[in-house]
Amino acid sequence: MKDVYILAIESSCDETSMAIVKNGKEVLSFVVLSQMDVHANFGGVVPEIASRMHTESITMVLEQTLKECYISMDQIDAIAVTYAPGLLGSLLVGVEFAKTLSLVYNKPLIAVNHTIGHIYANAIDNTLEFPLLALVVSGGHTDLILMKKDYDFEILGSTLDDAVGECYDKVARVLGLKYPGGPNIDKLALEGNDTYVLPKPVLDTTYNFSFSGLKSHIINMVHNEQQRNNEIRKSDLAKSFQVTVVDELVRKVELALQNYQVKELIIAGGVSANRYLREEIKKVAEKYKVHVSIPKMEYCTDNAAMIGAAAYPLYKQKKFAGFDLNPKSQATIIE
Ligand code: KG4
Ligand code: ZN
Repeated sequence: MKDVYILAIESSCDETSMAIVKNGKEVLSFVVLSQMDVHANFGGVVPEIASRMHTESITMVLEQTLKECYISMDQIDAIAVTYAPGLLGSLLVGVEFAKTLSLVYNKPLIAVNHTIGHIYANAIDNTLEFPLLALVVSGGHTDLILMKKDYDFEILGSTLDDAVGECYDKVARVLGLKYPGGPNIDKLALEGNDTYVLPKPVLDTTYNFSFSGLKSHIINMVHNEQQRNNEIRKSDLAKSFQVTVVDELVRKVELALQNYQVKELIIAGGVSANRYLREEIKKVAEKYKVHVSIPKMEYCTDNAAMIGAAAYPLYKQKKFAGFDLNPKSQATIIE
């Protein structure tokens, strides 16, 4: 098969990103314009501002993406775009832009699910080895997934309440850390010791997760201590929280590795940028002698390169979208 060049667009939250990806693996050009500094002033993403900023910057991001490599629009084989899940207004900007490019340049359109995109971040510079076990940890997901082939997802377990990234962000907020909370807790934990005794999630043997009890415990504890004018050892609390969460994630991964014969273990989603999680996942993969894939930092958080990688199997199967494609704020990976 001839080389396939996909122009991918991601605008589901507060990053306007585009990439040109060759054969679903090789990132030839990659631009991310983050709005994080603007939203940090509000303590979280403001949807109305996000979509307006995507509209303002999307043409510039395309120009920059094309400038960064030797591929012209004529050589592009398909336009891929994140259509769900995410903020509706933000998704709409990317989807309409992609449809326009598809129409003007007469290229097929590929609709990519954002969460699946995170999984395929592991296909960049790597050949996925099936069957594989994927731990998807982001602001909206905490899933343990078994994949026997491309686009074949069996969800072994999910969160019963909050997603792990959401928990990180809420705990960060009560500790007075800036948005986005996850990376800031990760940084603060480096200076701390695991000295707080926190409730461990239930020791069950399902593959589901539950972190809301831990989150509520920390929020209540901090409020109580503040009312009594007691000092909170923030870096120690960040460390103890991180250890509790990651140990539970890894415990469930280990359980799955004991019960399923897989060739590869991968992690995906924003929380896969977490230093402690990355270390512990490598250790468990070594223990069970499975190949491990951890995306490069720039492909952990929202980006278009992963969308280009996830679009490639769909291109091969000629699964193209029509101009009636609409964004969806919610979507599961199994449709
Ligand atoms: O995948 P993502 O960029 O967006 C969604 O698709 O949800 O994930 C964002 C989440 C946020 O909750 C953020 O706090 C968390 O990923 N995150 C981290 C780290 N970097 C980002 N959580 C823990 N440690 C990190 N280093
Ligand atoms: Zn994401």
